[in-house]
Amino acid sequence: MKHHTSTLADLMQRHPRWVALTGAGISAESGIPTYRNRDGDWHAPEPVREQEFRAQPQARQRYWARSYHGWPRVRDARPGQAHIALAGLEAQGRIALTISQNVDGLHQRAGSTRVIDLHGRVDNVRCLDCGDLTARETMQARLAPLMPTPPRLEPSPRPDGDAEIPGEQYANLQVPPCTACGGTVTPDVVFFGGSVPRERVRACLDAVEEADGLMVVGSSLAVYSGFRFCRHAQSRGKPIVLINPGWTRADDMATLKLAAEAGPLLTAVASALARQPA
Ligand code: APR
Ligand code: ZN
Repeated sequence: MKHHTSTLADLMQRHPRWVALTGAGISAESGIPTYRNRDGDWHAPEPVREQEFRAQPQARQRYWARSYHGWPRVRDARPGQAHIALAGLEAQGRIALTISQNVDGLHQRAGSTRVIDLHGRVDNVRCLDCGDLTARETMQARLAPLMPTPPRLEPSPRPDGDAEIPGEQYANLQVPPCTACGGTVTPDVVFFGGSVPRERVRACLDAVEEADGLMVVGSSLAVYSGFRFCRHAQSRGKPIVLINPGWTRADDMATLKLAAEAGPLLTAVASALARQPA
């Protein structure tokens, strides 16, 4: 751990400005489960796919019924040590941008100000027809009277605010429509199988381009959406640091792989660097 701390602190001292790319592992400490385990395999059945959500009313019933149970855990989660340490490194001028693949908003709650939510935010709801944006909490209040109470089985939470519940609990759910136009509402996230808006990807690529290195924290990089930034950093000859106790798709591209839990390591690095001028 001491060794890891000084290795990363030294590298960050030599390369002053970083982009941090984060994944579900950084929120594990905050009680939000990851998608995949340390071997890169799915923990649970795959989450809803973009195409299903758009095409199938039953997929939307299932999503909203499950999300009704899963959302409070994400809403009430507190930033962990790693979120706080990254916010500290941003304040020291060492992190130019945090690209988060998570939809939980915990970087902002920890005090990071330069954040791109690559896959959107689960605390917003968007209309697929008119684009109207509303708070997820408002949708929760609209869903509440429609849900069978009490839930017949303790739901198990998922990282995107989804949760597993038995099918009979949503078979009759009338999903509340957009209040502005009566259209179909969606959480403002990029679902599995969906695509990230082009300008958002561009802004992230530009940041990697301008940075001196890319640090990936708590992501398996199994999804190309995040992995592409490693490819980009590699093509520009920038150092890539991976902080992950398990397998990642970029293990063979890394300048430095630190098989450690992110919270204690980044906390130690941020405090070591706080004593040295950037
Ligand atoms: N510190 C660092 N890493 C950790 C920790 C920890 N304390 N705990 C777990 N991890 C690592 C795991 O080893 C795993 O590699 O976090 C990683 C989580 O990986 P995934 O669950 O695959 O999450 P992520 O990479 O963010 O997934 C990317 O896939 O379907 C999607 O859109 C979804 O944004 C998500 C994307
Ligand atoms: Zn609408």
